[in-house]
Amino acid sequence: MTQPLKVALLGCGTVGSAVLRLLDEQAADLTARIGRPVEVAGVAVRRPDRHPDVPAHLLTTDALGLVTRPDVDLVVEVIGGIEPVRSLLLAAFEAGKSVVSANKALLADEGGELHAAAAKAGADLYYEAAVAGAIPLLRPLRESLAGDQLRRVVGIVNGTTNYILSRMAETGHGFTEALAEATELGYAEADPTADVDGFDAAAKAAILASLAFHTPVTAADVYREGISAVTSTDVARAAEIGCTVKLLAICERVPGNGDGEGDSVAVRVHPAMIPTTHPLAAVGGAFNAVFVEAEAAGQLMFYGQGAGGQPTASAVLGDLVAIARNRVAGIAGPGVTSYAGLPARPIAETPTRYHVSLDVADKPGVLATVAQEFARHGVSIATVRQDGHGDAATLVIVTHSAPDAALSSTVTALREMPAVRAVTSILRVEGLS
Ligand code: HSE
Repeated sequence: MTQPLKVALLGCGTVGSAVLRLLDEQAADLTARIGRPVEVAGVAVRRPDRHPDVPAHLLTTDALGLVTRPDVDLVVEVIGGIEPVRSLLLAAFEAGKSVVSANKALLADEGGELHAAAAKAGADLYYEAAVAGAIPLLRPLRESLAGDQLRRVVGIVNGTTNYILSRMAETGHGFTEALAEATELGYAEADPTADVDGFDAAAKAAILASLAFHTPVTAADVYREGISAVTSTDVARAAEIGCTVKLLAICERVPGNGDGEGDSVAVRVHPAMIPTTHPLAAVGGAFNAVFVEAEAAGQLMFYGQGAGGQPTASAVLGDLVAIARNRVAGIAGPGVTSYAGLPARPIAETPTRYHVSLDVADKPGVLATVAQEFARHGVSIATVRQDGHGDAATLVIVTHSAPDAALSSTVTALREMPAVRAVTSILRVEGLS
C-alpha cells in the first residue's frame, strides 16, 4: 500500500467536523484522485472533551506539536482569527508543510507574510474557503484568469447581510426587524457586528483585490460601511428607480493616464443600489455571488453558497486535493504575485455615483438651486424625478460619476439649504449605464 499523506487538522467546529466527515466518506475517491491515500494525523482543539465524535487518539491540545510533527505533510486550518493561527502556520511552513486555510481575517491582514513563508519553504498556501464559501473563485482568479487583465470584481460576499437586505425588500421591514428575524432563524450570529458592519466583507474584498490586481491589499486599505443605516425608505426608493439594495464588495483598478501609469486600486464595501436587471440583483437570501470584469474574458459571474459547514468543507477539500496532488508530484503550485504594487486609492478620490432623495417645497427656483449645489461641487446630474407637489414634493436625483468626496460634500451642503426640508435617502449607485 502506498504511504498515506498525513493531514493535521487545526480546529474542529462546524467546518472542521464536515471536513473530517467528507475525508472519511470519500476516502476511496480521494485516494484515486490524489494517487495516495489521505490520513488524518491529528486534530488540534482547545477542549478535547467537546469532541466525542472524533477518535480520542487523534485529539490533541498541542497544535504546534501537531503541525511540526515530522510525519505530517499537510495542515488544514479552520480555527479562524489571527493568533495563535499566524504563528502556527508560519511554524508549519518552516517545517515544510503545505497549508489549506479558511481564515479570511488572517489572509486579509497577513497574507503577504504567509505567502512569503510558503514560497521560501517551497510549499503551498491555498484558501478557497476564505472568500464566498463553496464558490470556486480564488483559484479561477489565481490560475484561470492569470493571462488576463482584471478591471473590476464586484461581489455579494456576506450572506447574513444579503439575507437581511433581501428580507427588507420582500417585507418592507426596517433593518432592526430584519436583523431580529435573521438572528432568530440562525442566519445572523448573536453578535452580528462582523457581518452587519462590513468587517467580514472587507476582509474578503482585500483578498479578492490582492489576487485580482497582483497587489498587496489588506483590510485596512478597504473603505467600509455596513448596512445598519439602510432604511426601509432607501429600499423603497431603490425599487422606485428599478433598483435593489445590496452590500457590495467592490474592487477596481482605477486608470491613471491610460497606459497603466498612475493606476491605483480602489477597494470598498458599502450598501449600494443596483439595477434589478444586474446579475447580482437576483442573488437573494444568504447566497453569495461575485461578478468579474476582465479585458479579454469580459463579464463572468460566480454564484453559490457562501457559508455553512458542508459547503465550506467542499472548498477546503478541493484545496486539500490540489496541494496533496502537488505533494505527490513533488512540486508546489503557482504562488501569488504582488509585482504590480498599485497604490490604494482613498474613497474620497474614488469615482462613485449617488442616488439622493430630497423633500422640498414645490416652488419656482427650488430645482434650480438644488441643481446649482451639485454644479458648485463639480457633480453632474444624470436624472431628476419629482413626485408630489405643493409642500410635499420629493426630488429623486441620480448623479453621474464623481469623486466620492465631491458627492458627500454636495449632500452636506444640501442638508443646509432652506429649500430642502429633509434628505430622506442617500445611497451610492452601481451598475447603471
Ligand atoms: N458570516 C459570513 C456570512 C460567512 O454571513 O456570509 C463566513 O464568512
